[in-house]
Amino acid sequence: MAKKMTLFSAFTLIACAAICFYLNSNARSHADHLDPQFYSRSCPRVQQIVRANVSKAVAKEVRMGASLVRLHFHDCFVKGCDASILLDDTNSLIGEKRSRPNRDSARGFEVVDDIKSSVEKECNQTVSCADILALAARDSVVLAGGPSWEVPLGRRDSRSASLGDSNYNIPAPNNTFHTILNKFEFQGLDIIDLVALSGSHTIGSARCVSFRQSLYNQSAGIPKLDESHAAHLRARCPKSGGDENLFPLDFVTPRTFDNSYFKNLLSSKGLLSSDRALVSKNGVSMELVKIYAESNELFFQQFAKSMVKMGNISPLTGLSGEIRKNCRERNA
Ligand code: HEM
Repeated sequence: MAKKMTLFSAFTLIACAAICFYLNSNARSHADHLDPQFYSRSCPRVQQIVRANVSKAVAKEVRMGASLVRLHFHDCFVKGCDASILLDDTNSLIGEKRSRPNRDSARGFEVVDDIKSSVEKECNQTVSCADILALAARDSVVLAGGPSWEVPLGRRDSRSASLGDSNYNIPAPNNTFHTILNKFEFQGLDIIDLVALSGSHTIGSARCVSFRQSLYNQSAGIPKLDESHAAHLRARCPKSGGDENLFPLDFVTPRTFDNSYFKNLLSSKGLLSSDRALVSKNGVSMELVKIYAESNELFFQQFAKSMVKMGNISPLTGLSGEIRKNCRERNA
């Protein structure tokens, strides 16, 4: 009798475990919130695959890391982090690639294609393009020497894009501090996120067209630019021409993710007018810049927190959206 009971209990235990496993993995694939373990069963090697591809791309071209971080930002600020930025134009869809902030500027789409096809080979239609962008952004920061963080996962991909929101929601380099802060607050981000995330400009480059206006118009209202630095920039960014030239956003350590961006701001050597506005237009942001200029550690801690917060902007979860087969187009 006792032996029968033990057998029965063991059977019940195994059955319960199986049901729990099923319910848990089912819940994961339709979760309504993001979770770093989202793919732990369905695609356990996804993070390694993304990291390997990002490393390869950055080894080929250092700037690519910065471009991938920016893609994630420009994705999240338009209808949430749903990979809408990756959609190509078709007869029935107007994409975001030719919006003012993205046209001739957003890059890295081929790298995302490569990552997606490596992931697809191992886990067919399981990992979203939106999650690939979030992971690639984190890996790019790490590879440049910046902080690491756990990326909450489980975003799904949109079936639409918004050229209008891309034009309007993404901050422009000639926006006032007030407008930029409003655009962050509209996404549920605050002034701390604004200052910390602007620290992404410790890597990557800008074209002349993104700062020429403020370089030649040092009137009242435009955040001050150090005169000798301005002269140096004007030599390669003349009033007309020089459009092919690229300028590091952090001229001291352009390839390293560190707090020198904030140190540059304190000496009025930020490249974009929107960068310099952080130290001239608002007392709170000025104090935050000073804190991050003094402590790399505090910058890294806040940057990681703010990246997670940005990555959580209105994700599609559960049964909303889809898992695209190809990041450039909606599924048929
Ligand atoms: C605060 C408002 C912001 C403005 C006005 C702004 C504007 C810009 C502009 C104009 C460029 C240069 C584009 C070009 O010339 O082609 C740029 C580059 C970049 N931005 Fe921002 N940005 C802002 C915030 C952010 C945030 C929040 C992130 C990331 C979380 C970010 C990441 C980057 C990166 C990494 C680059 C370099 C891209 C590359 O080299 O390909 N930016 N940004």
